[in-house]
Amino acid sequence: MPDTIHVLNGPNLNLLGTREPAIYGAATLADVEALCRAACESHGLDLVFRQTNHEGTLVEHIQEARGACGIVLNAAAYTHTSVAVRDAIGGCGVPTVEVHLSNVFAREDFRHHSYITPVARGVICGFGPQSYVLGIAALAAGRTKPA
Ligand code: DQA
Repeated sequence: MPDTIHVLNGPNLNLLGTREPAIYGAATLADVEALCRAACESHGLDLVFRQTNHEGTLVEHIQEARGACGIVLNAAAYTHTSVAVRDAIGGCGVPTVEVHLSNVFAREDFRHHSYITPVARGVICGFGPQSYVLGIAALAAGRTKPA
């Protein structure tokens, strides 16, 4: 478990590949998962990869990541709305990198505020699926190695 990274995805990310491709690109969520799996393997880490359209389920996915070495979280629209998701990250004690496919700061004003950022280690956005790969690399680099 300490050598596991949980990559957790929020609402509408199951539609990647067909959803607003001019913004989110052509890669599907399965493509993103394959990239994450290869990235984790290259760092000697196991991967748990999950997606939900439901806020409470995302909270449960975060709670189930307790004891893991890191979370890469794309909370999607819940980034901008959810105190519950923020509290789950704040409470689970797992280093978390917030990621977004798009550059949220180059988009509508309502996407400029994140409830997650204050409880995250850092934020990576704007690099498409590579945002996830960079998030995994950041967590792997900061990992506390067992004695
Ligand atoms: C997103 C950006 C969010 O603003 C949006 O609601 C999403 C996807 C991204 O990955 O770029 O659903 O998190």
